[in-house]
Amino acid sequence: MISSHLSLSSSSSSLAFFLLATFASNPILALSGGPGQGPKSYFLSCGSSRKAADSDGRTWVPDSAFLVPPANSVSSTSPALSQDPSLPSPVPYMSARIFTSPASYDFPVPSKGRLFLRLYLYPSTYGTLNPSDAFFGVTANGFTLLRNFSASITAQALTQAYIIKEYVMSPVESGILNLTFSPSWDHAGAYAFINGIEIVPGEDMFKEATMVGFSDQAVNTDGASLENLFRLNVGGQYIGPTRDSGLTRTWYDDTPYLFGAATGVTSQSDKNVTIGYTADTPEYIAPLDLYSTARTMGPDPKVNRNYNLTWVFQVDANFTYIARFHFCDYLLTKVNQRVFDIFMNNQTAQESADVIAWSGSRGAPVYKDYAIFVADGDGDEELWVALHPSVSMKPEYYDSILNGLEIYKMSDTSLNLAGQNPVPSKMLVEAEDRAASFAPSKSSGARLVIGVVFGCIFGFIFVVAGFLLLRRTNNQAIRTNSHVGNWLPLYGSSRTSGSRTASSRSTASSHLSSLAGGLCRHFSLYEITRATKNFDESKVIGVGGFWKVYLGIIDGGNKVAIKRSNPLSEQGVNEFETEIEMLSKLRHKHLVSLIGFCEEGGEMALVYDYMANGTLRDHINSKGKNRPMLAWNQRLEICIGAARGLHYLHTGAKYTIIHRDVKTTNILLDEKWVAKVSDFGLSKTGPELNQAHVSTVVKGSFGYLDPEYFRRQQLTEKSDVYSFGVVLFEVLCGRPALNPSLPKEQVSLADWARHCQWKGTLHEMVDPSLEGQIDEDCFRKFVETAGKCLSDRGSDRPSMGDVLWNLEYALQLQLNPEGTATPATEGCQGNKDGHDHYAMHRKMLGLDEEEGGGGIGLD
Ligand SMILES: *[C@@H]1O[C@H](CO)[C@@H](O)[C@H](O)[C@H]1NC(C)=O
Ligand SMILES: *[C@@H]1O[C@H](CO)[C@@H](O)[C@H](O)[C@H]1NC(C)=O
Ligand SMILES: *[C@@H]1O[C@H](CO)[C@@H](O)[C@H](O)[C@H]1NC(C)=O
Ligand SMILES: *[C@@H]1O[C@H](CO)[C@@H](O)[C@H](O)[C@H]1NC(C)=O
Ligand SMILES: *[C@@H]1O[C@H](CO)[C@@H](O)[C@H](O)[C@H]1NC(C)=O
Ligand SMILES: *[C@@H]1O[C@H](CO)[C@@H](O)[C@H](O)[C@H]1NC(C)=O
Repeated sequence: MISSHLSLSSSSSSLAFFLLATFASNPILALSGGPGQGPKSYFLSCGSSRKAADSDGRTWVPDSAFLVPPANSVSSTSPALSQDPSLPSPVPYMSARIFTSPASYDFPVPSKGRLFLRLYLYPSTYGTLNPSDAFFGVTANGFTLLRNFSASITAQALTQAYIIKEYVMSPVESGILNLTFSPSWDHAGAYAFINGIEIVPGEDMFKEATMVGFSDQAVNTDGASLENLFRLNVGGQYIGPTRDSGLTRTWYDDTPYLFGAATGVTSQSDKNVTIGYTADTPEYIAPLDLYSTARTMGPDPKVNRNYNLTWVFQVDANFTYIARFHFCDYLLTKVNQRVFDIFMNNQTAQESADVIAWSGSRGAPVYKDYAIFVADGDGDEELWVALHPSVSMKPEYYDSILNGLEIYKMSDTSLNLAGQNPVPSKMLVEAEDRAASFAPSKSSGARLVIGVVFGCIFGFIFVVAGFLLLRRTNNQAIRTNSHVGNWLPLYGSSRTSGSRTASSRSTASSHLSSLAGGLCRHFSLYEITRATKNFDESKVIGVGGFWKVYLGIIDGGNKVAIKRSNPLSEQGVNEFETEIEMLSKLRHKHLVSLIGFCEEGGEMALVYDYMANGTLRDHINSKGKNRPMLAWNQRLEICIGAARGLHYLHTGAKYTIIHRDVKTTNILLDEKWVAKVSDFGLSKTGPELNQAHVSTVVKGSFGYLDPEYFRRQQLTEKSDVYSFGVVLFEVLCGRPALNPSLPKEQVSLADWARHCQWKGTLHEMVDPSLEGQIDEDCFRKFVETAGKCLSDRGSDRPSMGDVLWNLEYALQLQLNPEGTATPATEGCQGNKDGHDHYAMHRKMLGLDEEEGGGGIGLD
């Protein structure tokens, strides 16, 4: 039985209230300052009774001092029943204040300047209250921030465990910010809750924004409040609140919002170029990290003329949006070297943008605001941002550049910012219902078999496939936080766009867009046939059971891989559906990116990034090919990349994803030899949290199949670990997983490698082309790791995270044979051995984190 954790805080907190009220009247005392924050910010952990720090080291204080009587007597506090693993930190999410009738907080704030107000919401079970009964509105000084808001529906639709809403409030002359929570009247048993409130005073940094389509007119944002929907470090990485320039904003990677195959190139400023703030662009506008990375179009002027560098965002209809573009050119120095046009929703926002002309010099940041109204159309509303070289200006380079982009929703004439609740994907609803109905009770913790009825899910997809319009999910891969390490992208992003419109007129398309989320491009059959010269056999670069892969050219020069399903094969169609479903939701450096798909006239095709260097197998298995084989260090790095991709599948998403077909032909290599895991046709979303495995019909590839899975037909992520162990031995030995031409005991690489390992003769199996390349300690670590992966019982195998750790360690041993001070670890549980290892682990992973790079592309 679930016991109630609800405790009415009336009597106990009223004394505290009076004590703390004294504090509250003096802002400085009541505030908590984290590193880098000014003294006037509030970090309130609502419903908590003690001060506590979050994982960034910021201190959060109890909220009771700010409740306006009688709010303290009509509210209650409760801890959350369970902690979702994707929460970045228990503080402030694990405690909540609950309101069953309207109640307010008052905060003394500066009377000038804008206020950054952030609401932290974690829809969980609080006491006996059901998360699905929380429907409420929030107002602040006359502005409606939320109305009939359901945190659980929103979180479910975005597949996030928690939601952070950020508002930039217009200056409050009275010096008091009044925040009121009101449960919805029309929903029986509705209540309001809040986990955390953050208020950071800022400058008055929004003035006028140029109206898109009318360059001589401006929208005045004075007096309006704004809601931040997207905040992107274009061409760069996640920048967390503690690394922001004083306003604890979070900046995300822009890749999930890029549209199409032509995504340009990213670059980073050179160390010898100084990037510094100017009078027009002071520090609070954005951190310098933002300005030191950029996305440009690429080196080829012909290609650049033929495409738009495009981002797409889902927004609510009937609002004006303010887009703030951040620019900094750290490469070019002269006016008219790089001139481009900026479009928003097919209208011209800016003609002939010239960053140097605006900023005056190299390395000087500059920002521009544009306003556009998004009307109510069919289905979900979108905001498109596109850049294209201004050919008519005849600049020196046909290129464009962007360093950062923020999208804000502006309050309307009735001072409203609230949209409607999104409609969650049916697949997610079913998956969650299933997980809930099979969830073991807290005490039993018993292993449960869940028979996953995927047929239903794909059946559903099928029904709607007719008007399929999949879009890539809004979920961003974010890194948890700097303490856990920057490398683990998590599905449950801290952000919400609150953006999907639940338009009743187009329920189906709403379902679908939340099913696959954001923007997965829909190609016409014409585009696909043109790209592949009508499926010319000479363009075939891969053939599988139910499909062929063609090399295609789209958008005037971008190479893509087009996988065409055999229209007669039902399994092919099913695998395609799985792949769209899986890949459209996943974005990771080490997973192949799905660009889009085509479904028309009985044809089905998936369009991926083209992987210039083909499969890993092509480069390690020397038999009969006379191309150079990969060197050992490179092989190790590729294994680490692939391990990272698999680790992300297993732990990074809300639902564990089991690949089921890990093999060297499914590890692809791009032009920079970065490993990307591909082929998700057999993937399954795996057991969640308490369930240990899913039972399924055995599928996979012989030579890589987990014997335990084969015997018991129970799939766990350890089956992928087994297959990956085979991959590791294949990389070391340069022979296929199965080679029937060898003597019987050697046919299976897995069996033979374990036999040799036991006999201590593994050295004899090493690929002759690697002779003299492998450091002895590295070799030992590598084969020890690979061997553990092949353990008979899944429970004896390391997790993918441990494998990754050990491979990183092996690479360090290889690169610094002597200099590695850290003692060798025993077994694959290396990361349990002590803090040194953790520290080193983080360092090693950190080293590897610099993304894309690629240099600025100018010819
Ligand atoms: C705060 O707002 C609520 C609802 O708008 C209102 O009832 C209350 O009087 C306000 N309190 C203050 C101090 O302005
Ligand atoms: C920075 O240094 C590199 C080589 O060290 C040089 O090629 C480049 O021109 C320098 N850039 C500037 C702006 O001085
Ligand atoms: C947008 O405004 C129009 C006209 O006022 C209205 O009919 C429509 O329902 C509104 N759409 C949304 C999503 O609120
Ligand atoms: C912009 O134009 C493209 C191509 O014509 C179209 O697909 C897209 O829907 C348009 N976007 C908007 C917001 O009108
Ligand atoms: C780029 O976008 C603009 C505005 O939507 C459009 O007019 C133009 O045709 C696009 N250019 C290309 C090459 O797609
Ligand atoms: C409140 O939201 C729920 C879920 O989105 C919806 O079903 C209901 O109609 C909404 N109520 C009002 C009054 O808008």
